[in-house]
Amino acid sequence: MRGILYFLVSYLLFFTTVMEVRAEQREMVECGQCHQAVIERAEKSRYTHSVVLKDCRICHTAPKEVVQSTEISLESPSRDFIYHIKEVEDVPYTAMIQLKDDMGALSEPYRLEFFKKDLPNRSGDFKPVKDPPAPTVAGIKKKGFYSAKIVWEDSTPTSFSIECREKGGSDLKALSSTDLYEWLHEVEVRGLYQGKYLCTVTVQDLFGNEIRSAPFLVDTSTVSMNKAEVHDSVLTIKRALIFKISGRPGVFLEVHASRPSYCRISLKAKHETAEGSHFKIDRYTTIKACVGCHQFSVSHPVGVRAKSEDVHVPDDMSTIEDGVITCATCHAPHGADRPFLGKFEFRKDLCLKCHSKQIYFK
Ligand code: HEC
Ligand code: HEC
Ligand code: HEC
Ligand code: HEC
Ligand code: HEC
Repeated sequence: MRGILYFLVSYLLFFTTVMEVRAEQREMVECGQCHQAVIERAEKSRYTHSVVLKDCRICHTAPKEVVQSTEISLESPSRDFIYHIKEVEDVPYTAMIQLKDDMGALSEPYRLEFFKKDLPNRSGDFKPVKDPPAPTVAGIKKKGFYSAKIVWEDSTPTSFSIECREKGGSDLKALSSTDLYEWLHEVEVRGLYQGKYLCTVTVQDLFGNEIRSAPFLVDTSTVSMNKAEVHDSVLTIKRALIFKISGRPGVFLEVHASRPSYCRISLKAKHETAEGSHFKIDRYTTIKACVGCHQFSVSHPVGVRAKSEDVHVPDDMSTIEDGVITCATCHAPHGADRPFLGKFEFRKDLCLKCHSKQIYFK
């Protein structure tokens, strides 16, 4: 019995090590498919840097992506609208848009990819709001409390806030939609008592200009039942696009649906970590990775550029970020024919390649 157990355990161990070797070999084959010359040079060097033949990604890290998602659900049904997404970073985004109606019918999802700095600026395509809104009461419903449907249309897309005060009473109802811009507004003010209310609507255009309506009367004692509309057409997104407006933060998403519906927006931001993609020769590749293994043998300041008059880095010495010296400025990371993986003859006056004055080490 113990024999079988031992066999099983050793078999498992064997299996996992084989798997590891395979993963490593696959990696080398993967980079070697296109960079065979690098591997050959490394193997043929008199002084091989063994880590190079083990795994290229020790220094050339694979791109790492972190996806951050945000879900936005519109609370009221709309047909043609613009949604203001205020916080957008300088990274690639994917937006998935989907519509849903009262009956639960769903549209096909609509996919948009964008990068804020590449988006068109459409400030010239919209007019600033000029006339105050002229809302009308389209119907009063009673369902416990009373609710009033208020309707108006603007010549340019606007967001709104509504305030209704009970005449001769203390009831106050306020409602606003600050991220959603529409041409046609159909707003339901709920929770009203029986009686008369004086309401005002304030609208704001895409540029931030505000204008307020004259006060208008909402009389909940005149209940008028308006029938629920029946829809049988297919719910589709006819058009969706993303743009910028001068002087406003973030981006604007414009959606045109086949009929009023609730919109769900799912935003995914793709962040690349500082390590970046594997073929960037950056601080990670040339300094951070090296210091990870050689922390006690750093032989010269790195991550700095020449600032004094006496120091000048010649063109045959590689730097990053236009002049910042790294470990690879003096060392050949893949292997070299000189001791200490020297790119240059260290015995000759290496120091004088950059320092015009004789400078002594250690
Ligand atoms: C399908 C082919 C292919 C594979 C596989 C590949 N590379 Fe590359 N790599 C390239 C090409 C082509 C370039 C040149 C890109 C350029 O100059 O913009 C490049 C560039 C690079 C550079 C930058 C060279 C320079 O001079 O700036 C590094 C470093 C690099 N690759 C490392 C790797 C590593 C490590 C792997 C394995 C994880 C790998 N590559 C896999 C094709 C490949
Ligand atoms: C010890 C860290 C390290 C490892 C491991 C490593 N590299 Fe590099 N690699 C570097 C550094 C640093 C540079 C920049 C060299 C310079 O500036 O002279 C570089 C440059 C490159 C370049 C562009 C310049 C050239 O020499 O062609 C390629 C391509 C490359 N590496 C591919 C690879 C491949 C393929 C592997 C695996 C077989 C690998 N590297 C393993 C550190 C490493
Ligand atoms: C994963 C650990 C590791 C990383 C990362 C690494 N090295 Fe090494 N390095 C070694 C080991 C181990 C040796 C000893 C020789 C061998 O086995 O390759 C070595 C040898 C060297 C030597 C020769 C030392 C001597 O006494 O001859 C130099 C120089 C060197 N590395 C520079 C670098 C530079 C520059 C980088 C970054 C581009 C780097 N190393 C990244 C592990 C590492
Ligand atoms: C200005 C050139 C220069 C730069 C930059 C440089 N080195 Fe060196 N390095 C040398 C010289 C020269 C030697 C040989 C020193 C000696 O003879 O003791 C050396 C030796 C080494 C050695 C082997 C000796 C030992 O102390 O173990 C390692 C490992 C090494 N360097 C790693 C690094 C790493 C890692 C970096 C980046 C953090 C770096 N070097 C940056 C010039 C440089
Ligand atoms: C690739 C060019 C280059 C080479 C080669 C080089 N240095 Fe430097 N060195 C620099 C830079 C750049 C600085 C930092 C910025 C400055 O002082 O302008 C620096 C700074 C120094 C400093 C620190 C000076 C201070 O005031 O903090 C010393 C010490 C030094 N180097 C010694 C040496 C020695 C010894 C050698 C030869 C083994 C050498 N350097 C080779 C470019 C180089």
